[in-house]
This record gives sequence, structure tokens and C-alpha cells, in this order.
Amino acid sequence: MIKKIAIMTSGGDSPGMNAAVRAAVRTAVTEGIEIYGINRGYSGLLDEDFSKMDYSSVGGIMERGGTVLRSSRCKEFQLKPTRENAVDILKEHEFDGLIVVGGDGSLTGAHLLNEEFDFPVVGIPGSIDNDIGYTDTCIGVDTCLNTCMENIQKLKDTASSHERAFIVEVMGRGSGYIALCSGIATGAEAVIIPEIPVDYDKLTDKLWHERQRGKINCIIVVAEGAASAYTVARHIEHRIGYDTRITILGHVQRGGSPTAYDRLLASRMGYEAVKAFQDNDTDVMISLISGRMERVPLGDVLANKKGLDPKLIEMIKILS
Ligand code: F6P
Repeated sequence: MIKKIAIMTSGGDSPGMNAAVRAAVRTAVTEGIEIYGINRGYSGLLDEDFSKMDYSSVGGIMERGGTVLRSSRCKEFQLKPTRENAVDILKEHEFDGLIVVGGDGSLTGAHLLNEEFDFPVVGIPGSIDNDIGYTDTCIGVDTCLNTCMENIQKLKDTASSHERAFIVEVMGRGSGYIALCSGIATGAEAVIIPEIPVDYDKLTDKLWHERQRGKINCIIVVAEGAASAYTVARHIEHRIGYDTRITILGHVQRGGSPTAYDRLLASRMGYEAVKAFQDNDTDVMISLISGRMERVPLGDVLANKKGLDPKLIEMIKILS
């Protein structure tokens, strides 16, 4: 029987992580399981930076952006002796399991604790990049896309007033998901993503012709993993007939109060993570698959990075 667990948020923060923590804490407390928050991800685990959480300690956190448990990128955790030390600490404190909310690096760390030292873990996908396999989406993606959409829409206003082109760089690491989806949602004229090699001649021809036909604004969304906005500008700015400006959205994409969608998704995942421990179903990630909460082995998740839906790629070619 599971008596005491810990929860951490790790890696790049994503809006909604707090709702997952709140749900896990309240579910655990209701089920008579002691639960501790680990501050600052794996770094805090190594520093034994824990605090006991209860029903009221997670009050009022769901609407907050960021993560109240704070986060870190802990490079040392890539080393096996560090992970061994972490398991010793967890055992010393009599934890029966660990919930990790984070992206692929953080989930890899969790999986290794199980694989190498047989320590029970449950992962929750939290990353704006939406690059984690076997889940339709991750905590924070919806809020991030809304932030991108609102900001790009604002750029479109000023672009129209001045008859300008804007090259907008968005995050996503190696994935073009944020660029593709925010491009579709804002009716961008072009999207540049790492999944499709860019043909600058073809692109400039298209934008030039649209300009000649009377278009007064032009939005090009570029994924950071494909090229920097400056590189794109160097290739196209003198060939498209618009005065051109660059905007890098940056970390604004990771902040902000989570949308209703992210709050609900994160709450379902936090609840399900505790249930998974109760069922002894560990070394799994809580996933959203076709609207349902599922538990997928972490090994499978990590072996299959998520690609972009080819239909979305096909669609942007028609709609942009
Ligand atoms: O993985 C989330 C993410 O925001 C990526 O999109 C981005 O490349 C990276 O993290 C930035 O990391 P940091 O906050 O460490 O600069």
C-alpha cells in the first residue's frame, strides 16, 4: 500500500503545472496518502528541498502562471551516480513514489529512476512544445498557443497600418508545432518549421505576388528550430515588397494564467497520477488519448517522439 509520495515540476515551466500539483495533492490527501512537494525539480531533490503539502497549501494556485514548486534544468541528473543518490534520498525519506511533471528530459530522468533502481514513478507531460509522444497534447500547449495568437494578432494590426511584413519567431525547440498551429490560428501568410525544408525563392515569389495583388500585411511565423527570425529576414526582406520587422516572442510564451483547457487537462492528469500509484501502475505517463486519460509506459513514450500531423501541414499549404 502506498503511504507517502512526492511531486515535482521540472524543466521548462508550462502554464497549468500548478493545477496538476493541486489535483495530485488534493487527491492524495483525500485517499490518505501523505504528499510532499519537491522544490526546484531534480536540483531540489538532490538538496532535499521538500515541504509537506495539504489541502489548503494548494489553494489559489490553479490560476497562477509558472509553477509554485519552481523548476530547474538539472544537467547532473544525466549521470547515473546522481540518480542513484536521488533514489537513496527518496528512500531515506520513505517516499513510495514520485510524480514528475515536465517535458521529455524530465520524463527521461523519471523513467531511469525506475529502470535503473526500481523506484516507482509516474510522469505527467508538461511542455509548451507538444513534442511528447503518445499524448494528444501536454499541459501548457493551449495557453501558449493563445498567447502566440493574441500577440501575432496585435502585430497584424500594426502590420496593416504600416503595410509591413513581420517575421515572428516562436519557441518549440526541435518541433514546429507552436509555429504551425499559431500560424493557422492567425491566418499567417507563411510558416517556417523544421519539419519542412524552406525554399526561400518560392516563398519570396509567393509573398511578392500577394503584395502586388494588394495585400497590406504579411505575417511569417518561424519556429526557433527551423531558423532564427534574423536569418529569415536576411533571405527575404529585400525581395517581398514590404518594409520588414522582426519580433521574437520568447519566454512570454511560457507565462500567463492557464486557459480553462489547460486547467482541466492538468487537473485530470494530477488526479490520474495518484490513482495510477494506488493501482500499482507505475513507470507510466498519464496521457490524453482521444479525450480519455490513459496510462502509457514511459519507455514507449520516450522511444517515440511526436511528429506533426501531416494533415495540419497539408492544411497550412492551402490556407496560408
Ligand atoms: O521546452 C520548452 C522551451 O520553452 C523551448 O520551447 C525552448 O527552446 C526552451 O524551453 C527554452 O529554454 P530556457 O527557458 O532554458 O531558455
